[in-house]
Amino acid sequence: MSSENEAQVSEAEIAVHWREEAYIPPPPRFVAQANAADPSIFERFGEKNFPECFREYADLLTWDRYWHTTLDTSSAPFWKWFVGGRLNASYNCVDRHLAKHRNKAAFIWVPEPEAEDTQVITYQELHKRVNEFAAVLRDFCGLKAGDRVTFHLPMVPELPISMLACARLGVVHSEVFGGFSGAACGDRVADSGSHVLITIDGYYRNGELLDHKVKADEAIATAQSKGQEIDRVLVWRRHPGAYSSQTPMVHGRDFFVDELLADRRGTVVDPVSMPAEAPLFLMYTSGTTAQPKGCQHSTGGYLAYVAGTSKYYQDIHVEDTYWCFADIGWITGHSYIVYGPLALAATSVIYEGVPTYPDPGRPWRIAERLGVNIFHTAPTTIRMLRKLGPDEPRKYDYHFKHMTTVGEPIEPEVWGWYYGVVGKGEAVIVDTWWQTENGGFLGSTLPALQPMKPGSCGPGVLGIYPVIYDEMGNAVPPGSERAGNMCIRNPWPGIFQTIWGQPERFVQIYYEKYCRDRNSTDWHDWPYFSGDGALLAADGYFRILGRVDDVINVAGHRLGTKELESASVTVEEVAEAAAVPVMDEMRGRAVEIYIALKPGYAADAGVEDKVAAAIETLIGKIARPKHVWVVPDMPKTRSGKIMRRVIAGISNFTAVGDITTLANPEIVETIRHHVQAEKVDRGEVPRELSPQEMEEIKAFGQAE
Ligand code: WTA
Repeated sequence: MSSENEAQVSEAEIAVHWREEAYIPPPPRFVAQANAADPSIFERFGEKNFPECFREYADLLTWDRYWHTTLDTSSAPFWKWFVGGRLNASYNCVDRHLAKHRNKAAFIWVPEPEAEDTQVITYQELHKRVNEFAAVLRDFCGLKAGDRVTFHLPMVPELPISMLACARLGVVHSEVFGGFSGAACGDRVADSGSHVLITIDGYYRNGELLDHKVKADEAIATAQSKGQEIDRVLVWRRHPGAYSSQTPMVHGRDFFVDELLADRRGTVVDPVSMPAEAPLFLMYTSGTTAQPKGCQHSTGGYLAYVAGTSKYYQDIHVEDTYWCFADIGWITGHSYIVYGPLALAATSVIYEGVPTYPDPGRPWRIAERLGVNIFHTAPTTIRMLRKLGPDEPRKYDYHFKHMTTVGEPIEPEVWGWYYGVVGKGEAVIVDTWWQTENGGFLGSTLPALQPMKPGSCGPGVLGIYPVIYDEMGNAVPPGSERAGNMCIRNPWPGIFQTIWGQPERFVQIYYEKYCRDRNSTDWHDWPYFSGDGALLAADGYFRILGRVDDVINVAGHRLGTKELESASVTVEEVAEAAAVPVMDEMRGRAVEIYIALKPGYAADAGVEDKVAAAIETLIGKIARPKHVWVVPDMPKTRSGKIMRRVIAGISNFTAVGDITTLANPEIVETIRHHVQAEKVDRGEVPRELSPQEMEEIKAFGQAE
């Protein structure tokens, strides 16, 4: 579609194009066994029972001391849940299951090399390993409740073991996604004030044993440059006894965990009874500034929320084999591979590698062999498996009762393949919408009780009351076909407590926009602003459009435009940079970077490569831009602000919108000509975008 044509499509026409998909009911076999099959549950979680309705989730846990106040709003919007209660997360995920489920698999770990044996870790063995490692953390590292520890670990069982060992001591873990660069890890080490870094020598990815320890040395250098010293680096070994990294171990600083554990065989560490309000972990995520923010999650509220949503929305029963194909380095893995499932004594599968290694039949072989019946993944993975092996699922004898999609909007055609081919028409699907900040699901259908509608996540989940506000703070009525800002009216137990070390930004980013009275201690005055655009259909189902702030969702990974831009301007020649999302068939969105050079520098291919390399070093491979465009100048407002929305329109061949307020409107045509001609030459003209996607591009950067 040419941009001229597109520019003529009016808002009203867009509305006409919205197509509501038909409902699909859950399979009767699913309904017959579902944890939530009685519609009275909606009443139990109705607004008139708020906040006491969340007792039902908290009662799934074992408390050392029961709480006296379910929700304390006295320091709004810093909500406190289950105040007065005490518990230990490691005890709840491990010890308490020993009596009944000692010999049941807690984790089944599937290494990427197919010839390597699958490891089954029973609750008994998990208990031993968590205790022994907790002893290392306490006695060798001197860690105690409240200290922070950074992990930079891939998808190996040592990651949840490390998490649960910290939780046992009340130590706050901060896992950095294994695919992030050493520098990105070092930033997070410094921000969290960690003195201990836990890493691994190497791991398998796409058939290759990657050197991972090398990133620890980079992380330490970065942390040091920000004034944070690491005293100890604990190095797990992918093959205990053999070192798989080229990087030397630093004497007195780096230690092999398998050697430290040898002296602690059988040590038992009592779980430390923590206040419900004590932080359990930090999870860094990208936002509107260059510095990622550490979302601080609580022990009691968080664990209750992930246990409750795992029970009702993931429909986990003890006898199920549950496989969430996310990375534990992201919130989905924390909540729905480790804490939620283990709180319910589930069997949770962990896979080390990439979905298509050595071929796109791999996930289905794993599902067949292990009898996986609950499957959980992201649209990016579904798109990739569909493209590379559309018929593969039919070749394997597995049967899912339940499937999840999370992290990005899913196109109805992709949804259809997931349902019909992957799920063989036998599984219910939940499209779960939520964020790192939220702890657990916020929008989804309750699988046995609410029909599916492809492309919509569904209504708010139990005890969550969402609303779409326009810029003025008026609620957009259902069925109006007007997009607005997705907000949640009420607090919930899984909400993060604050941004680590930056309480004022916590208030400013998430609550200031729609707060009715800053002095109020009534939660009704403090709606939560999610940063997503959405539409609300007449039936109460939400359709998430994407971010309205400076965040780009690449393959389900959140990248901040400011982070990308500040990495780009570390390149000597670059004066200014702007990052925008571009539609991508596989990854949902990809990143394009526009750069303007400093005077005296000429554009050549070299500078584009340097920018891509800088991004890879400072953030990680996942952030590598699809294109770097060198432009003579950026479109700017008269106050000098770069108009990313205009650039995003150019990259996506959509309307650039109103440019009359620009200081340099003529530059738009120059850039458009250059970029679009080049894209046409390379055969990269995007397919016709859906009205939903056009809406997203239009909204991009709107919150600037
Ligand atoms: C997007 C991941 C559409 C959204 C759990 C959100 C989704 C961001 C969905 C959070 C969904 C998440 N449909 N979009 N079902 N789920 N998103 O923090 O833009 O990594 O704000 O948390 O992903 O990403 P995060």
